[in-house]
Amino acid sequence: MATPLVIRDRNVMRKLILTNRTMGRRIGFVPTMGSLHAGHTSLVDQAVAECDDVVTSIFVNPSQFGPQEDFEQYPRDFDADFNLLAQHDVRWIFAPDVHEMYPPGDSTRIEISGPAEPYEGTLRPGHFSGVATIVFRLLQAAPSHAVYFGAKDWQQVLVVRKMVHDLKLDVEVVTCPTVRDTDGLALSSRNTYLSKSERKRAPTIYAALEQAEQNWCQGLAIDTIEQKLKDMLSAKEIQIDYADIVHTESLKKISEVSPNTPAIFLIACRVGSTRLIDNILLPSQALSSC
Ligand code: PAJ
Repeated sequence: MATPLVIRDRNVMRKLILTNRTMGRRIGFVPTMGSLHAGHTSLVDQAVAECDDVVTSIFVNPSQFGPQEDFEQYPRDFDADFNLLAQHDVRWIFAPDVHEMYPPGDSTRIEISGPAEPYEGTLRPGHFSGVATIVFRLLQAAPSHAVYFGAKDWQQVLVVRKMVHDLKLDVEVVTCPTVRDTDGLALSSRNTYLSKSERKRAPTIYAALEQAEQNWCQGLAIDTIEQKLKDMLSAKEIQIDYADIVHTESLKKISEVSPNTPAIFLIACRVGSTRLIDNILLPSQALSSC
C-alpha cells in the first residue's frame, strides 16, 4: 500500500493527471470536504476497483455554505483523513487552500436551473451554485475519466450530471449507494454535531423511510405514505424541512403511483440544530419488485 502524495497546487495536480492519462491510465476522482468516514471510502473503493489511479480531494468549499451555515464549524482533521485514504489505495490527495481555488478577486460562478432549483436549492440559496463551481474547478485540476458521488446527496448528483451534460465535460459521473451505520443512520460528517440523545433519535429517519418503502409496496396512497413518515418523525421531535416522494430525475412530486415512474423519497430534517438529509429509492411499480 503506497503512501498518497499530497498536492496543493492546481497546475501541478493537472499536469500529473494529464501525464498519467497519456500513459494510458484510467483516473478516478472522489471529491470530498474531508472529515472522512466509511461513506467516503466506499466511493474511493469503487473508484479503486474501476480505475488505475484514484485522486481524492479534500476541500471545505466556502461557496456552498450560506452565511448562517456551518463553514467555520465544519469538522476538519487532515491527518486522520490522510491515514484513512492511505489504507484505501488513493494515489493522490488534492488538498488546496481557499485562495488556490478562489484567488482574491475571483467572481466567476456556475448557475444551474432545473434540478438545482427545488428542495435544497430553495432552502439553501446559492448552495448548488457553490457545488457546481467547485466541482467544475476540481475537475479542471483533476481531469479524470470518472468522478464518484454518493446517492445520499441525490440532488447534488442530478446537479452535477446536468452540468456535465450541458457543458459537455468529458467525464463519467458514477453514483454509489448510501453507506449507513448499523442502526440505519446514513453516515455524514455532520453526525458528529449530534448530542448523545439526538444520536439515539436520528436512526428514526431511515426507519421512517423504510416504513414508507413498505407502505409504497402495499399500494397506500402517496399522501398517506408521506403523512405516516411525518408522524413517525414528529413523535421523536424531528423537525421536517421537506419529505416528498418525487420523480428520481425531474424531482417533480408524484401524486399517483403509476408503473414506470422511477420514484425516490427525499427528506431533509433537523434533529436538534443538526440538519440531515437522506432518501430511499422506491421500487418501480411492477409492484412485483417489492
Ligand atoms: P462531502 O459531504 O464530503 O461528500 C463527499 C462525497 O461523499 C459526496 O459525493 C457524498 O454524496 C458522498 N457521501 C457522503 N456520505 C455518504 C454516505 N453515507 N454514503 C455514500 N456516500 C456518501 O458532497 C460534498 O462533500 C461536497 O458537496 C463536494 C461534492 C465535495 C463539493 O464540495
